[in-house]
Amino acid sequence: MIPIARPQLGEEEKQLVWETMASGLLAQGPRVREFEERFAALIGTAHAVATSSGTTALHLALLGYGIGPGDEVVTVPFTFIASANSVLYTGARPVFVDVDERDFNMDPALVEAAITPRTRALMPVSLYGQPAQMEVLAEIAERRGLALVEDACQSHAASIGERHSGTWGAGTFSFYPTKNMTTGEGGMLTTDDGDLAERVRLLREHGMKVRYHHDIVGYNFRMTDIAAAIGLAQIEKLAGYNSRRRAIAARYDAELRGVVTPHVRPGVTHVYHQYTIRVTRRDAFAEALKERGVGSAIYYPIPVHRQTPFVALGYGGDSYPVTDLLTEQVLSIPVHPSLSDDEVTTVVEAVNETAAELGSLEVGASRA
Ligand SMILES: Cc1ncc(COP(=O)(O)O)c(C=O)c1O
Repeated sequence: MIPIARPQLGEEEKQLVWETMASGLLAQGPRVREFEERFAALIGTAHAVATSSGTTALHLALLGYGIGPGDEVVTVPFTFIASANSVLYTGARPVFVDVDERDFNMDPALVEAAITPRTRALMPVSLYGQPAQMEVLAEIAERRGLALVEDACQSHAASIGERHSGTWGAGTFSFYPTKNMTTGEGGMLTTDDGDLAERVRLLREHGMKVRYHHDIVGYNFRMTDIAAAIGLAQIEKLAGYNSRRRAIAARYDAELRGVVTPHVRPGVTHVYHQYTIRVTRRDAFAEALKERGVGSAIYYPIPVHRQTPFVALGYGGDSYPVTDLLTEQVLSIPVHPSLSDDEVTTVVEAVNETAAELGSLEVGASRA
C-alpha cells in the first residue's frame, strides 16, 4: 500500500538529536533559539517563536493580540478543528465564513459581511499548502482595524509572489510528523511585530522573563531542544522536499483524468502539503484506490461547525454551501517527497482507472 504520508528522518536528525541529548540541555535552550532564528530567516520575518505545537502557536497568537471573552474571530469551517478551537480557548467566539470553491481557502468576498463591532481578528487558513488570499485579507484587516492571524500550519515556505506564508500579521506553523517538515510535535509563530513576539514569549513560559518572577498568568507551551534539533535538520531539507512535492503535483496535473485537480492561483507557489482532488462517489473512490494499493485520506470528513462541540455551541444549523460540497468531494492522494516515480505512476493509473469506473467529476468553475 502506498501510504498517504511517510515522514522522512535520517542520519542528520539522529546526529543532532544525539548531540542534544549528550549536551544535557533537553528543554527549551540554545537549539530552540537557533531553530527560531533559522525559521525567521527562511520565512522572512523579524521574529519567530517556537511552541509545543501548531495549536499552541495559534492560541498564543490570539492571546498575544489580547483577544478574549466577548471578542469574535472570523475564520473558516473547512479546516482542521485546531483553527477554531484556538479561538474557543481564549473565550472568544469563532465566526465562520465559507471558502472559495477554487482554492479551498477563505473567500475574501464574504469577509466584510461577517465583521461586527466585536470582531478583533481574521484567521484565514492556508489549506493544503496554498496560501489564502493574504494580500486581499490584509487590506481588509488593515482598513477595519483587525489583527490578522494566518493559520499557516500546512504552508511551510509557500508564497504569493516573493512573499511567504507567515509574513502577514502573525503566521502559525505546525511541525506534526505528516507536515512538510517535522519536529515530532512542535509549532512556530512568525511575525514582524516585536511587541507581539515579546508577549508571546512571555505567555509561552508562565509569564516569566526573570527566573521565578511571573509578570502575567502564562502557560508552558515551550518546544524542547530535542524537537528543535530535529527541526534544524529538517529545515535544511525543506526546499528539496517542497520541490519534490511540486514535481509530483505537476505530474498529477498533467496525467490525471476524470477528477478535478487543484487550482493554483496565478503567482502562487503551492507547496502541496496535500494534493487534493475532487471526485464523484468519493467514499467508493477511496475504497477502489485502496484495492489498487493506493492510500488516500479525507481532509476533512466533517466541517468544524458540524463537529459535536460546535453543534453544542449552536453552530450546527449554519449553512456553508461550498464547505458542504467540498466535504463530500475532496480526496487527498499521496504526494509526499519519498514517493518514487514508479509509485507516482501507480497512483496515476489507480486514479484514472477508478474515475473511468465510477464516473468523472466535471466542475467547469474550478478551472476558472
Ligand atoms: C490547518 C491546521 N491548523 C492547525 C493545526 C494544528 O497543529 P498541531 O497538530 O501541530 O497542533 C494543524 C495540524 O495538525 C493544521 O493542519
